[in-house]
Amino acid sequence: SDTRQFKVLYRKGKSLDELIKYNMRKSLDLDQEGCYLQQGKKECLEECGFNATAKTIFIIHGWTMSGMFEGWMHKLVAAVMQRESEANVVVVDWISLAHQLYPDAVNNTRLVGSSIATLLDWLQEEQQLPLQNVHLIGYSLGAHVAGYAGTYVQGTIGRITGLDPAGPMFEGVGEQKRLSPDDADFVDVLHTYTREALGVSIGIQQPIGDIDIYPNGGEVQPGCSLGDVLSMAGNFMEVMKCEHERAVHLFVDSLMNKDHMSFAFQCTGPDRFKKGICLSCRKNRCNNIGYNAKKMRKRRNSKMYLKTRADTPFGGYHYQMKMHVFNRKQSDNADPTFYVKLYGAHNDTENVFVDVPDSVGLNVTNTFLVFTEEDIGDLLKISLIWEGAADSWTSVWKNIKQSFWSWKTKPTNPVLEIRRIRVKAGETQKKFTFCAQDPSKTEISPGESLTYVKCRDGWEVKPRKR
Ligand SMILES: *[C@@H]1O[C@H](CO)[C@@H](O)[C@H](O)[C@H]1NC(C)=O
Ligand SMILES: *[C@@H]1O[C@H](CO)[C@@H](O)[C@H](O)[C@H]1NC(C)=O
Ligand SMILES: *[C@@H]1O[C@H](CO)[C@@H](O)[C@H](O)[C@H]1NC(C)=O
Ligand SMILES: *[C@@H]1O[C@H](CO)[C@@H](O)[C@H](O)[C@H]1NC(C)=O
Repeated sequence: SDTRQFKVLYRKGKSLDELIKYNMRKSLDLDQEGCYLQQGKKECLEECGFNATAKTIFIIHGWTMSGMFEGWMHKLVAAVMQRESEANVVVVDWISLAHQLYPDAVNNTRLVGSSIATLLDWLQEEQQLPLQNVHLIGYSLGAHVAGYAGTYVQGTIGRITGLDPAGPMFEGVGEQKRLSPDDADFVDVLHTYTREALGVSIGIQQPIGDIDIYPNGGEVQPGCSLGDVLSMAGNFMEVMKCEHERAVHLFVDSLMNKDHMSFAFQCTGPDRFKKGICLSCRKNRCNNIGYNAKKMRKRRNSKMYLKTRADTPFGGYHYQMKMHVFNRKQSDNADPTFYVKLYGAHNDTENVFVDVPDSVGLNVTNTFLVFTEEDIGDLLKISLIWEGAADSWTSVWKNIKQSFWSWKTKPTNPVLEIRRIRVKAGETQKKFTFCAQDPSKTEISPGESLTYVKCRDGWEVKPRKR
């Protein structure tokens, strides 16, 4: 019935002006209708108070099943207007063309994109609008609409932001048929729902911008688990929406919390990032996320990662920890479950679980990523805690067997030795080396903890010259 409705719209001879509306927002009161821009109508520009020397920001929605604006739209519009009070903020309303079967809505993205391009061309001609000051922000299908606008416009748009650009029917297709780095001077993309189900993912997986940021690996967003969402009143659709829409909320967060920016770090993949290998800012390897992202030289296929909190402010703090783990006693089968507690100048953390993606490498240097939600200030002290694996049934049984057959030998505990911990803070790029507080106690067994403090012999590692 949706498609029939669409054909009816056309048969009735609805013009494009009726199907694609440019709603310029004039006040933060979102119930006010604002006013409408129309290509070729100069009087609208005056009526709307369009300021051609200010920034112009278009917000473009995606596919809709309800046929209405979703709640995120209000939040995003309000955040953009608060941050850029002089900007022309324009909501691209293509609801009737988006409220279709998904393949038909996809087919309409080209039409809507070229309509935006036509409007921009007219504004360039009529008002000498500098395209460099134009920023298109598109969510889901809207990201690809922005891509088409960038393709068709005369000249080069300043910036396009893709918020979890739609995946189905765009993954793997040529650059001309989706958002791509050529569509604007700077194309930045947030990917939040790239988990695959039945061979497709809602958000596009492949990098398609100048920078592509995958918060939490672009997969499981904290606060969006089935349990979290269902307990908040939702249904299964809400779970999908939570992860897809997270891109919008991260962007809103970046507009509102200017003094609490989130950083993303370039990495070849999520697994390496999870190991803490990629926390470097050298040679533009890190960037702010969302609105504050800095334009970088074109570098295709560069994926960037970060972890986030479950709610606003989403930003947290990343630490890389490097420790050489010496295997002292029959620890080959030990599966250490480590926690760390970080003591900072302002605050301490709880015990933070150290995610060991593979197993702990013995007699080698291991790198771990530790993420904290609170700003604890400069790091002063670290406690390393090995959860009591010795108490687990298998090892108890092992010990009983051992003591039964060779009753003279005492059951032995695995022992690891860690003399120093080298730490790099992702957000500040500061590096420190921590030494065992008691130099004679550098060995740890299950159920024990060790404390590391500033090394006496110079502990701050001076940054290398670039
Ligand atoms: C138009 O925008 C520019 C740049 O933001 C600003 O300096 C100027 O005051 C604005 N003009 C009006 C009439 O608001
Ligand atoms: C896309 O829309 C055009 C009209 O705008 C139509 O001619 C074409 O058949 C459509 N393609 C698909 C795949 O639906
Ligand atoms: C680590 O080194 C110790 C002695 O230094 C040795 O006994 C142990 O077998 C080594 N373990 C591994 C996994 O190489
Ligand atoms: C310190 O951190 C805890 C959580 O670990 C938090 O509840 C508390 O508010 C923080 N205190 C300050 C002064 O920031």
